[in-house]
Amino acid sequence: MTCPAGFTLMPSGQAKSPPQRLLVTGGAGFIGSHTCLVLLEAGRELVVLDDFSNSCGESLRRVVELAGGDAAERLLVLEGDVREAKDLEQAFEAFGPGGSIEAVVHFAGLKAVGESVAEPLRYWDVNVGGTVRLLEAMAAHGCRTLVFSSSATVYGMPERVPIPETAPIQPINPYGQTKVAEEHLLADLRAADDGRGRSGWRLACLRYFNPVGAHPSGRIGEDPLGVPSNLFPLISQVALGRRDCLPVFGDDWPTADGTGERDFIHVMDLAEGHLAALDHLHQGEPQLLTLNLGSGQGHTVRQVVAAYEEASGQSVPVRVEARREGDAARSVADPDAAARSLGWCCRRGLVEMCRDSWHWQRQNPEGYRT
Ligand code: WQD
Repeated sequence: MTCPAGFTLMPSGQAKSPPQRLLVTGGAGFIGSHTCLVLLEAGRELVVLDDFSNSCGESLRRVVELAGGDAAERLLVLEGDVREAKDLEQAFEAFGPGGSIEAVVHFAGLKAVGESVAEPLRYWDVNVGGTVRLLEAMAAHGCRTLVFSSSATVYGMPERVPIPETAPIQPINPYGQTKVAEEHLLADLRAADDGRGRSGWRLACLRYFNPVGAHPSGRIGEDPLGVPSNLFPLISQVALGRRDCLPVFGDDWPTADGTGERDFIHVMDLAEGHLAALDHLHQGEPQLLTLNLGSGQGHTVRQVVAAYEEASGQSVPVRVEARREGDAARSVADPDAAARSLGWCCRRGLVEMCRDSWHWQRQNPEGYRT
């Protein structure tokens, strides 16, 4: 994959030294663990706060193994809840009294659409309540740089693709509503600073499209609890023989082959996008940046199945079923704003996504519980 013409991969010119000491909430999860690896490889010192409700400490042990060198001395792991002030206090003090946290990457949250419909209160409490508590702790510790994990789900049923950041915000499920509420919270915080001209907040809302794949080593990857609802982990379990076939939710959509079309982004590209956002915020003026993190290229379910069969050498039988409630036909990012602001774009394509997903799944048939 190459960057669109006219964009450079990384910003040039002199830069302030990047933030070294970071708090990563939810850092043991799928995207969090891959981002922690990229941050450690970039020489950063991390404290991870994770409640392990949807993740496993093993992921971070393997992250240290992959990062090598002195990574074990640069990663502190705390089991705790972002809604608990005492846990946040412990995280901010983890590097000792003088060891201030310079920036936060906030992954901790619930993200299953279907579950959010059944348990809206828990989603609002964890996602929005947790973010309020985190921002309070950040302010109390003089830390005002935050990279926030948002989602393309805020666009609901997009009216057109590719989807720019200026597209209507119209979430259609409680999960999406919480992401919009968190984005509004950050916008209010940024606006509150404008009036007083203080050293304001540096905030980035990163709207992920469909994160998939795994680190090429196959040592870390996506490890959903229970029955996955997302396409890639389901396909990988069918390829492994853990499931008989893949249900295809509708083949009468207005797309190239009638199946749903999505913008899949390799989790390593996504992780690198977080590093680029962190360093961009740290070097720039106080701001609120809202960016799509996607490839700008759509693939249909059938195209993904074919690519996965090619990459794995395994058959992935499918069974066409009715459309899934709340699904859109197409969801594809306009990725240009991130390329312009961060000098970042996706560099890995569908072949790598399928290859790396299969490599992880085959090496870890039961995920981290192997
Ligand atoms: C992708 C395509 C399905 C499963 C969700 C969340 C979103 C984000 C990413 C957190 C669709 C089809 C799927 C299956 C299928 N998560 N499909 N059979 O729905 O685009 O996005 O995950 O931020 O918020 O909504 O991803 O992987 O569930 O579906 O045919 O068994 O695959 O219809 O077209 P989705 P998905």
